[in-house]
Amino acid sequence: MTQEPQPGTSASRRGVLAGVGMVGLAGAVSACSSSGSSSPAASTTTSAPAGGGSSSSAAAGSSSSASGSGGAALTTTSAIPVGGGKIFAEQKVVITQPVKGTFKGFSAICTHLGCTVDQVANGTIDCPCHGSMYSVTDGHVVGGPAPKPLPSQPITVSGDSISLG
Ligand code: FES
Repeated sequence: MTQEPQPGTSASRRGVLAGVGMVGLAGAVSACSSSGSSSPAASTTTSAPAGGGSSSSAAAGSSSSASGSGGAALTTTSAIPVGGGKIFAEQKVVITQPVKGTFKGFSAICTHLGCTVDQVANGTIDCPCHGSMYSVTDGHVVGGPAPKPLPSQPITVSGDSISLG
């Protein structure tokens, strides 16, 4: 008879020692040495007018996220084709220019089942899902299963910029 050691009996201990105690950020070193060229030591006779040193400091802070905080221009009037329009899917709005100089705003959400319209062509705003078409002039249903017109979206035309609201 040989006794085989049963590995299951040995209880494995897991020493869970959460040693995350001290989050000591000692030493917030704010060493912003913004001192550029401090006093050139070469003190020559000041007869030369200007050194011509064009030191253009390029700012590294380029924030590409231009999140309009209300009131920002959505587009320009020249970006909206006459007799057509442009869809702004992010804002879920369609801007049209049925007649030169007249701009209209509509919801870009199809009144059928809520798809976002995806093109403006031949005088209509078209939904890709089931083929609803709306007039660029007033948003009324031209074709397809849409039960009602596209709701109008208030816009403001100021100069050559168009903004919502
Ligand atoms: Fe636009 Fe159906 S959701 S046609």
